[in-house]
Order: sequence, then structure tokens, then C-alpha cells
Amino acid sequence: MAVLLSTKAATMQDWREALLAVDPTLEIRLFPDAGNPEEIEAAVCWTQHDMAELRRYPNLKLLVSMGAGVDHLLRQPGPPPGVPVARLKDARLTQGMTEWVLLNVLRFHRQDLEYREQQAARLWNELPAPDTHQRRIGILGLGELGGAAAKALLALDFPVMGWTRSPRETPGVRGFHGPAGLEAMLRETDILVCLLPLTPDTRGVINARTLGLLPRGAFVINAARGGHLVADDLLAALDSGHIAAAALDVFEPEPLPADHPFWGHPRVLVWPHAASITIPSSAAPQVVENLHRARAGRPLINLVDFSAGY
Ligand code: GLV
Repeated sequence: MAVLLSTKAATMQDWREALLAVDPTLEIRLFPDAGNPEEIEAAVCWTQHDMAELRRYPNLKLLVSMGAGVDHLLRQPGPPPGVPVARLKDARLTQGMTEWVLLNVLRFHRQDLEYREQQAARLWNELPAPDTHQRRIGILGLGELGGAAAKALLALDFPVMGWTRSPRETPGVRGFHGPAGLEAMLRETDILVCLLPLTPDTRGVINARTLGLLPRGAFVINAARGGHLVADDLLAALDSGHIAAAALDVFEPEPLPADHPFWGHPRVLVWPHAASITIPSSAAPQVVENLHRARAGRPLINLVDFSAGY
């Protein structure tokens, strides 16, 4: 039996080696060279893989998505019916995201954009010192990634709030939930960080209305999915000065089209969906563990809950 691997050409070999390092007995086929479809027992795929294609493998008993977000799997036609789907929960992936959130929170908090502008003008000018204890961070989503970012921000002494679908206790974090909770949190948020899963409920959550609830001069950081943000609404809020700046790693569509106004906007930091990238050697053990479990009929880890959408 064999494992079908399907990801960007640049990382295919790394993934192959990482999986073989954990279990040298695996037979790995690199898509599109799947060989006999009946021999494929597991597929390890990233967003570009066509879910309809996976219906070719009659003995598929596991699908692993090579990342944290699984919104791509929820689109029609979705994974083959009856095949369990696991995603990655990986400490290195989480750490990468925490670093990216800290990078941007600190850039905004420490007025780095303003100092860059001053440098461009060769201007030696000290700005009023920011107060960490007054800079309120509101995180949308306190799952694996949001929870870790909250912890790191708390360690730096920022006041941290978090919004979740249902009530959730996270030590040190002021929790909010539901639509009323979202409004209440936004009214007090100086730096908004989006780390939500993209579901029909969270699509477009950052829009003209919700941006309008943020205090004037607030910052927006989106590291989740482009679909969380209504790009034109953010542009309008930036251009009116209501939002001071944004750091964006994700867009709809990706790549961000070359003529998109975000590219040249002086108050937008654009990253090419690279805030946190899965490191195959770190993620491979849980993939192999799931494969062994699937073979033995044991319960799988990191399963996607399709009713919740993540
Ligand atoms: C990347 O965007 C991921 O979902 O892991």
C-alpha cells in the first residue's frame, strides 16, 4: 500500500524524505505519478490538490491536509465521503505564527512605520513613547494559533482580549464570544489580530461595520485567510485614517494580483502567505502516526470537525 503526496513542487522531496525518516518502510508516490490507484491508502495534500481527483482511489483511508487551515477542503466537492481528514497541529507551525504576530504587533506598537518614514526623510525626531499596558490587543480566534499568540503577547505585558465562537477560558485573556462579544471587544481593541478558521460564519468578519467599531487609529493584522477581510472596506478605513495600518499575510485571491492597491499602499505590509510555513520534518511524525492508526483501525489525531468547519 502507498501514500500519495501532493504539494508544491519545491517541497515535494522534503516531505518525502521527512516521512521516510519517520517510517522508512513507507511507499511514497509523488502526484501525479500515483501508480495503481487501488494501492493508495493515504493522501497527504495541500490546497492545490483537486478533491474530485481523490475519488479515484477506492482504498483511501486517510486524507491529511498539510497545514492548519482546512477551508479549502470544505469547498465543493469536498473530500471523498467517508474518508477521515486530519490537519496539522504542529509546534513549529504555531511558533512561526506567534513570531509573525509579535513582529507586526511590535512594529505597530513601537511606531516602526513612522520611524521608517522619518528615516526616508532623514528626520531625527523622537515620537512619544508608547505604553505597552495601554495597547489593547484583541485576537479573533483562540485556537492553537490564537492561543499561542495570546500567551506570547501576555508575556510581553500587553493587555490581551480574545473572541471565540463559544465561551472559552484562556488564562490571562479577557474572553468574549458571540456577536455581542465581538462588538464589545472591537470597541476596546487597539491592535486586532485575526487567527480564525475561515467558515461561512467568519467570512468577511473584518468589514466596514466591524472596522468602524475599532477605536480610531487601530491596527489590523490578518494571518488567517483572505476571506476574513473585505479588502475594499479596509482600504476605505485606511484612507480615511480610521485604521492606522495593516499587516496582511493572506489574500483573496492568492497570489495578490499585481495591480492590487495593497501592494503600493504606504500603510499596508504585504506578505506572500508566508507568516508560518509547515516544516516537513517537524510535521511528519504526526502524519505517520495517523497512518499507523488508520491501518490499525485506532482513533486518529487532529481530525477535522466538518460540522464546526475546522
Ligand atoms: C497555512 O495557511 C495553513 O493553513 O497552515
